[in-house]
This record gives sequence, structure tokens and C-alpha cells, in this order.
Amino acid sequence: MSRRFHVRTFGCQMNEHDSERIAGLLEAEGMSATPDAADADVVVFNTCCIRENADQRLYGQVGALAADKERNPGMKIVVGGCLAQKDGAGLAARAGHVDVVFGTHNLAELPELLARADASGNQVVEITDETAVSPSALPSRRESRHAAWVTISVGCDNSCTFCIVPSVRGPEVSRRSGDIVREVEMLVADGVVEVTLLGQNVNSYGRDLDGRRPLFAELLRAVDAVDGIRRVRFTSPHPKDLRPETIEAMADCASVCEQLHLPLQAGSDRVLAAMHRGYNAERFLARLEAARSAIPDLTVSTDIIVGFPGETEDDFAATLEVVEAAQFDSAFTFVYSPRPGTAAAGMDDPTSPEEKQERYKRLTDLQDSISWRSNLDRVGTREEVLVEGPSKRDPSRLSGRTRGGRLVHADDDGTITPGSFVHVDVTSAAPHYLLADVAGD
Ligand code: SAH
Ligand code: SF4
Ligand code: F3S
Repeated sequence: MSRRFHVRTFGCQMNEHDSERIAGLLEAEGMSATPDAADADVVVFNTCCIRENADQRLYGQVGALAADKERNPGMKIVVGGCLAQKDGAGLAARAGHVDVVFGTHNLAELPELLARADASGNQVVEITDETAVSPSALPSRRESRHAAWVTISVGCDNSCTFCIVPSVRGPEVSRRSGDIVREVEMLVADGVVEVTLLGQNVNSYGRDLDGRRPLFAELLRAVDAVDGIRRVRFTSPHPKDLRPETIEAMADCASVCEQLHLPLQAGSDRVLAAMHRGYNAERFLARLEAARSAIPDLTVSTDIIVGFPGETEDDFAATLEVVEAAQFDSAFTFVYSPRPGTAAAGMDDPTSPEEKQERYKRLTDLQDSISWRSNLDRVGTREEVLVEGPSKRDPSRLSGRTRGGRLVHADDDGTITPGSFVHVDVTSAAPHYLLADVAGD
């Protein structure tokens, strides 16, 4: 019987996509996927280290597998991704039952590293600072038949003082737009109708290729022109680099969805400066307004960090004010977590964890009510939904997303297949999803 593998993914969409490549590589080696880590021969953890609890969860889960490995001594445990890049040999030393540790630049070498561990029985650690083989050239086992991630750049050239990503993913490297468009064409030929373009900062796409031209806007137009593509999304744009050309391209291109993820991080200008974000609250709100007025029905999400070092009650009040003014449709909210080696980790931080939790609660209460109001505004409207499959909370319903990216649960007569488009009438709204009836057309 062929060896079975199981991949467990932590972190952002880049990691989800990398995991598809890990699965593709292992299948190309003749292995097959299993949903259960305990009976897998090869367990791969694709890790994240953006916040400290991500580190802790990973070490907990890897540790929990030690007992399974004792029962099945042939099991190989592999750790890749951002935490592997950060902790490297330290991770191997801390978790002695791990067989292979590989960094973010070493994905293509996974089969070879695994073979080395198989042959020697020793731990194999491979962490480099540069990518030899572009991961986009690797085979990929897509999770979805109709939606796909497409990498447009890897790494990040910014220096947000809280963020560990540049140190674990390296400087920004863009793919050639011709290669990206060709990949989208191949995906469409394979039945894909929705692509999400991925980069840490998609707005600076191509700066390493041609510093002056608004290449991201050009790329959006080129992807939109691919015959058969119905929906184009992208994440994440950095507010400081959101150019008018990009907003124009979003407005002009029929397939580019009315959705924008625009990470605010904080509302206080003093904190934004300490974060090195390159904009102030006024500029952020102006860009948001420009996008909203050019793109009718734009759905906007954001990221916000509470409790950055030195954040005062007044600073936090400024965040609440901007959140109130911006009226984000949804937000990912985080309590600041110091990351070793980042500039912010060395800053004075007198605010107590309890105070930060209390601020976090005030922020999420406010945003939840705004999110709910935003969803309530959709009640009575008709939306196009791309069907993902049966609803997880109620299998008698189907789930899908609107062009704005809102989650919809709708009644299902069993005839509607994943990957199809249906129109629905929204009947009611919760803070994080909509309920709807499939419209009669
Ligand atoms: N490249 C993306 C962000 C990737 S990290 C971008 O710039 O939009 C995703 C989010 O995690 C960030 O937007 C930020 O809100 C949060 N984050 C990053 N580092 C953090 C830290 N040290 N503590 C808490 N949240 C953090
Ligand atoms: Fe991190 Fe800032 Fe780069 Fe995003 S733009 S990955 S937050 S350094
Ligand atoms: Fe985490 Fe790495 Fe993404 S640190 S958020 S998996 S780039």
C-alpha cells in the first residue's frame, strides 16, 4: 500500500496555498492523502509564527503526536512553514521526535529531505534564506475544484515594527505577469471560476520588476481579460500603496469582486507612526472613501491590533473612532503579541494584559455591531452566490459567498452543485453570515 500523508495548516492563505503544493509534491511521490493524522505515515505541519499563541499551538500539537509515533515507529513528522523558518534547529532540538524541519524557501526540496530522513533515521533540518525553485512551478493539489489561489509575489519589503513576516518570508519577489496570466488560463481550462491573487503586499506587486509602472492595476486588467474567469479577488493590499489606478481597475473590471481587505492596524497617528505603517488615519479614511465612491457596493474588511506597545487609552479611543468612521463590514482583531527580533518587541509596554483584553472586548463589541448592521442592510437584496457546498452548520442548506465575500447559507433542494452560481434573496442576517432563499431563476 502507498504511504499516506496528512497535512495540517496554520496561518494565512499563503500557507493554505503552500499546503496544496506540499500535497501535490507528496502525491507526485506516489503517496495518498488521509484525513487522519494518527494513521498517516507522513504528517506535515505547515506552520505560522505571526503571534505567540501560534507558536504554542504548534508545539502542543506536534507534542501530542509523540504517542502516535510510538505506536507507529515508521511515522515521519515534518515541520515546515514560518515557525520552522524562525526556530529551525531549535525546533528540532525541542521536539526530538520530529524527523524533518524545512524552511519557507525549501518547499521544493521536501521529497528529497524526507528521503534523507527515511534513509538515515536522523533528523534533517534545511533552512535557507533564498528560494532556489519557485514554488509556483510545483505540482499542486487544489482543495477546491472551482476556486484557486494564485501567488503573485512572495515576501515583504515593508518593516511594520510588530511583524515577523519579512524575516521569515524574505524580501518581496514578484512573478512575471505573463506567468501569472498563463496560470490563470490553465486554471480556467481546469474548471476554475474564481481566483484569489496572493501577496503580502499586492499593491507593491512588480516594484522589483519595473519600479515606476502601476503593475498591480495592469495585472488586474490582464487577469480580468482571461476568458471564462468569473471572480477575481486579491489579498492583502497595503493602504499606503493603494493607488488610484488600482481602484480604477477594480471599478472597470467585471470579474474583479467588490471586495477590499484594507488593514488599518490602529487609529492613532502616533501608534501608526510607531508601527511604521506609512499612513495616518486621515489618509487611510480618504483612500477608503475613494475606493467606496468608485466601486458601488464595496465590501471592506480590515485587520486591527489592540495593545501595541505604549498604546494609551487615548490612542485606543482613536482606534474606536476610526472604526466607527470607517464602518468596516468585517474585521480581524488581534491583541498585540511581541515577536522576537522585531523592532516593537524591544519597545516599552506598560499596559497590563488585563487592560489590553478589556480594550479588545470593547473593540470587538463595537465591530460586531457594525458587522451585523452591515449584514442587516443586505436583507431584501438579491445576491449572486458561488456555491461552495453543503453548509457545515446545517447540511440541509448550501453555503457560498457573495461577490463581496459574505458567507451565505441558503435553502437547498439538492440540485445545486458546488462551483455553480445561483442568485439568492437575502432573508435575514447574523453578524457573520446571511440567510437566504434561492431565487426562482
Ligand atoms: N501582509 C499582510 C499581513 C499579514 S499578517 C498585510 O500587511 O496586510 C496578518 C495580520 O496579523 C496583520 O495585518 C496584523 O493585524 C496581525 N499581526 C501581525 N503581527 C502581529 C503581532 N505581532 N501581534 C498581533 N497581531 C499581529
Ligand atoms: Fe508584515 Fe507589514 Fe509586511 Fe504586512 S506589510 S507582512 S504587516 S511587514
Ligand atoms: Fe503566519 Fe507566515 Fe502567514 S507567519 S500569517 S503563515 S506568512
